[in-house]
Amino acid sequence: MTDHIRKPAVFITGANGEMGHSLITILAEHSSHSIIALDVRPLDEELQKKCTAVIVGDILEDRLLERVQSEYEIHTVYHLAALLSTRAEFTPEAAHRVNVEGTLNLLKLATEQSRWHGAPVKFIFPSSIAVYGIPDLATKKKAGKVREDDWNTPITMYGCNKLYCEHLGRYYASHYRQLAADTLIGGIDFRSIRFPGLISAVTVPSGGTSDYAPEMIHASAQGKPYSCFVREDVRIPFMAMPDAIRALRLLHDAPREVLSRSAYNITSFSPSAGEVRTIVKESFRDAEIAFLPDDKRQAIVDSWPADVDDSAARKDWGWEPEFDLDQAFGTYLFPGIRKQYAGRSR
Ligand code: SER
Repeated sequence: MTDHIRKPAVFITGANGEMGHSLITILAEHSSHSIIALDVRPLDEELQKKCTAVIVGDILEDRLLERVQSEYEIHTVYHLAALLSTRAEFTPEAAHRVNVEGTLNLLKLATEQSRWHGAPVKFIFPSSIAVYGIPDLATKKKAGKVREDDWNTPITMYGCNKLYCEHLGRYYASHYRQLAADTLIGGIDFRSIRFPGLISAVTVPSGGTSDYAPEMIHASAQGKPYSCFVREDVRIPFMAMPDAIRALRLLHDAPREVLSRSAYNITSFSPSAGEVRTIVKESFRDAEIAFLPDDKRQAIVDSWPADVDDSAARKDWGWEPEFDLDQAFGTYLFPGIRKQYAGRSR
């Protein structure tokens, strides 16, 4: 760690992940605060240059978080670190530790920070469509645009973890130590977004169950055959990464008093897996995309809604996607991906 004592900072966990990459790039351009990045893996070199300090370590290490506590004055936490839905099913208890105990550690750190500097710490938490669990396809069809309070019966460890952490955040923000004599000044200002599947032009996700769409696109761009692990007719919401990052910043910047909820749905477009293939094949004519569903991963995606109602986010903090389906592929994904694999694609 370097010496940047008590300069207002933004603390980003899971900094080397897909969202971390894009968020750091944008914050480095627009934010006046120091960026303190944490990840279990070393941060990519390009990203390191954009941060004030980079810490390689685990959010479950108390000592490490104590050092962060003592060295920085944190005003915002973007807590992005998590084990995603597929990976979490292989090691559910480890996922619980990272996703829940890790979040608890960060909530404690943020609370303690606010005690020191006396202002609320904004705690921005990416939640997920995985908090929903719809029992069967007929019900999924009938459910249409799912609202935040419906179908909160997740079937994955990751979904359970995210839903519970939304509640933990709400608890720390509004009810923490409610019987104590000393009232906490400042405290946590917890804000959460339930993201759909995210698709980036620059990175490929790992360990998620919505990964089939980004995998299909990136494999085809590189001229590699792809076997899709869900059926063609599977439909869940997706979003282009720049919109996801814009949403995080919009929610961060929203005045507290306009927020009527602690966790918000947002969405952009809901193509079926077959429709994603059609779009990909229009751009990469030789793409070899087969559908070989994995029944178990398929069941997870089937339990997620085909669409979500994001009217609360639109009304409260002005959410609106910039990229619809055509723009996401035409102006963001395909140009970005072609550039990235230039010389390597067919
Ligand atoms: N993209 C995540 C996953 O597939 C869902 O939020 O696990």
